[in-house]
Amino acid sequence: MSDSTPEITKLILKAAAKADKESPGIPSDETVEPLKWPLQATVGPGLEGAIACETKIGYVNGTNGWLIYQGYNIFDLCAHCTFEEVAYLLLYGDLPTKEQLDSFQGKLVAARSLPHTLRMMMATPIEEMNPMSGLRLGTNLMRRRLTWRDTEAGRPDPSSAIASDEDSIPMETAPMGEKRAIYEFGRRRAPRPQDASRRTTGAASLDSCIQLISGVGTITAAIARIHDNALPIEPDPNLGHAANILYMMTGERPSPEAERVMDVALILHADHGMNASTFAAMVVASTLSDIYFSIGAAIAALTGPLHGGANEQVVRTLKEIGGPNKVDAWFKRTMKKGEKIPGFGHRVYKAYDPRARILEPLARHLVSHSPESSSPESRLLYRTARKLEKSVVSTLGKEKSVLPNVDFYSGIVYSSMGIPEHMFTPLFAASRVAGWTARVHEYLKKNRIFRPRAWYVGEFGREVKPITSRRTKKRKK
Ligand SMILES: CC(C)(COP(=O)(O)OP(=O)(O)OC[C@H]1O[C@@H](n2cnc3c(N)ncnc32)[C@H](O)[C@@H]1OP(=O)(O)O)[C@@H](O)C(=O)NCCC(=O)NCCS
Repeated sequence: MSDSTPEITKLILKAAAKADKESPGIPSDETVEPLKWPLQATVGPGLEGAIACETKIGYVNGTNGWLIYQGYNIFDLCAHCTFEEVAYLLLYGDLPTKEQLDSFQGKLVAARSLPHTLRMMMATPIEEMNPMSGLRLGTNLMRRRLTWRDTEAGRPDPSSAIASDEDSIPMETAPMGEKRAIYEFGRRRAPRPQDASRRTTGAASLDSCIQLISGVGTITAAIARIHDNALPIEPDPNLGHAANILYMMTGERPSPEAERVMDVALILHADHGMNASTFAAMVVASTLSDIYFSIGAAIAALTGPLHGGANEQVVRTLKEIGGPNKVDAWFKRTMKKGEKIPGFGHRVYKAYDPRARILEPLARHLVSHSPESSSPESRLLYRTARKLEKSVVSTLGKEKSVLPNVDFYSGIVYSSMGIPEHMFTPLFAASRVAGWTARVHEYLKKNRIFRPRAWYVGEFGREVKPITSRRTKKRKK
């Protein structure tokens, strides 16, 4: 953690004191008994309330607004640790000693450089793709490069060569007297690269987890560069994880303040219970597929606007509102239409989200104190957000416990740092990959394939009629 940012530590500790005053009583030395399976739970749609497994990684108490990683309060971790320490904590269960941290950092730094993966990525039009789609592709290419698992299982069967129309026979195809064109793939198979590690072939080895934590950051930064019409930048081994991501995104070494804010943002987003993307990763891993595919599934789940995509939507909404004096009219219109307001509400939190408690003062600090980020646009965004928060909290907050969530202020923090909106969700992934990998790694120690049920409400005994006698039937919704 940078010692040169005491102001930021102070803001976090102040937010912690406020949270503690409003919802005191985080258990200090209790241990929780393991569950006795099978158990009874009240389950709502969307698996609300269902308990899928036991974990030591993280605890979210939505009624009180508590967030704990491996027994540590999120406020303390943000105030006193770096992302690397927190990633180590999530994976190994304890905060590292100096030696353990040095060794872990060494492994993360070694895993930052992905020249082959980036080269493969750049053979596709990444600049035309949604950045999350590029990130998912990059993770898959990392898997291919680092584990080389596709080749044996995926060797194409010549009998399944794709037949095509005569018109599309490529000019170089030698005439073989075939009636139709035949494309053949995989004749010349590239040898397995020497650096492809056999050790990463375990379903979720710690090596793979570390490679993914570093690699998702590198790929995120490369996507930011490519979308900016620039070439990816080599990582700087002398920078910490947060600073290096910012450097690889922008080409400039960040100020201690920007580095610290990014570090805090990465810590805050690193884990959050059985959220949709974590669950998606675990479902894929539970089939004993592999962790690269699991993380790909998590990235896909995080893309949705009801999950990680919300922070982009928040900034777009604040821009669309146009200023604090236009909030009331916009809010009334939106409520009338019955639309949800991005950045508010949470399945779990019915109290103030502790992550929003930390991000709000950081956003305020950036827009009012940081010379790099205090642009008039950022200040307007922040003031509009504060006004919107007031309107929502005084109405929906009271009626339905709809309060700001993590995404409400993270977008303002990122845009104040000059990060474009389309990179917000990939940055979320670059942090959450620590929680995804840790939870998959933990779950696989006592793996059971996920297999919930759906309740059938359909019909029985229907007759298959010839197509000519079928009629369109109006279905009840
Ligand atoms: C996060 C979210 C998906 C949680 O969904 P959920 O647990 O299924 O909650 P529900 O949609 O059932 O909401 C409960 C009630 O609060 C209301 N509500 C929830 N979030 C709201 C929002 N952002 N704006 C307005 N009303 C909201 C719902 O309309 C519902 O009201 P009702 O009981 O009168 O129908 C939902 O709050 C949402 O869509 N928020 C906006 C997107 C967002 O910020 N996502 C990031 C989450 S970290």
